[in-house]
Amino acid sequence: MDYFQIRGGTPLQGRIPISGAKNAALPILAATLLTDKVSTLSNVPHLNDITTMVELLGALGADVAIDESMALQVSAAQLNNQRAPYELVKTMRASILVMGPLLARFGKAEVSFPGGCAIGSRPVDLHLKGFEAMGACIDVRDGYIVATTESGLKGCDFTFDTVTVGGTENLLMAAVLAEGRTVLRNAAREPEITDLVAFLRGMGAEIEGDDTSTLVIDGVSELAASHYSVMPDRIEAGTFLVAAAATRGRITVENANAEHLGIVLEKLRDAGVNVTVEGNTITADMTEGQLTSVDLITAPYPGFPTDMQAQFTALNVVAEGVGRITETIFENRLMQAHEMSRMGANITVDGHSVIIRGKSSIDGAPVMASDLRASASLVIAGLAAKGETHVDRIYHIDRGYERIEEKLQAVGADIVRKSR
Ligand code: UD1
Repeated sequence: MDYFQIRGGTPLQGRIPISGAKNAALPILAATLLTDKVSTLSNVPHLNDITTMVELLGALGADVAIDESMALQVSAAQLNNQRAPYELVKTMRASILVMGPLLARFGKAEVSFPGGCAIGSRPVDLHLKGFEAMGACIDVRDGYIVATTESGLKGCDFTFDTVTVGGTENLLMAAVLAEGRTVLRNAAREPEITDLVAFLRGMGAEIEGDDTSTLVIDGVSELAASHYSVMPDRIEAGTFLVAAAATRGRITVENANAEHLGIVLEKLRDAGVNVTVEGNTITADMTEGQLTSVDLITAPYPGFPTDMQAQFTALNVVAEGVGRITETIFENRLMQAHEMSRMGANITVDGHSVIIRGKSSIDGAPVMASDLRASASLVIAGLAAKGETHVDRIYHIDRGYERIEEKLQAVGADIVRKSR
């Protein structure tokens, strides 16, 4: 099993190119199932989750061609089955996103109950409730969710009980081919949803209200071929900016979109980091001044992203003062706190919060990654620590960060991938 060996203590300095966003590319790949025409995608990150989604499209009968620059051409003209098998779905929760497109186009979808990161209970009840509101019948058989519709999906007026990114994406994709108008209320407003809307619009879908919590979709009978470049990964960019701050370095991320990182950049500035934005680059400079703890509470966009919470925990661990970080989206997403304690961090878990008393230095230690963003936070802690850290189970990090060790090595980090 692979692990990272990190020798910390070096301030990171340099430039890092940001990849396409995993959380935008996955729903867009699922949306290619909505048409029998060819979809061409660029800026798709080279990640295990993307490979899993491509395998899933292939298992459904789609033809996927990938060139050396990771431009993908998907043709879903010859789909021959509507069943997303357990073997693929168990490794990636985003597999549930094929349900909306399959149901809309073929009137049938079978998807194994999803897996993914172990970060608490992650139901899909709202996806299913929405499909039912559009006229689908939902059944559960042998661990599979079976959705069918006799006479096609019908537009509806649906309000999400809680803001769900995946649920909004799934119903949005179903609605573009449904009969009549669908209104989705209390919809998620994450930039990745706006990216999916832009992709669908490029195929000929009729959607209004992106960037707001009410999406209005007028169903069309078919969608066309399209070309689309996936948005930059805001979480990858944010992760490297935090790494710059925690190591007292200076990193410029390139091909990034600062508009998507509003509150994250605000919190970095609150922490004393000199953040500057120029065009599509963002620089975090912590080579001077005092790094100070920040308080934050995760919330749906434009609130503080749950996907950046663990990285800010690492930042607080080596900052001056006391910070409280509260997770409101997921139940079990504070596991990195225990691992960071093993490195000498002063952290107390208090219900859904962690209280961190910053220290001038922490020590390297062997630690274990529990989920994707937790692994990124342990890498940051290792880079900021004195001595050697081993981060185990880095298959989690490979799901969401493209060549992270190479990108970090390029800015001076002493990090090596090893196998045991
Ligand atoms: C969530 C995050 C997203 C992040 C992703 C990966 C939010 C709002 N969503 O998206 O930013 O990139 O994890 O870490 O921050 N829920 C239900 N029923 C459902 C669906 C969801 O109760 O049918 C609940 C979940 O348990 C959770 C909340 O809604 O508490 C948000 O879940 P959701 O946005 O769907 O999760 P993801 O799409 O995985």
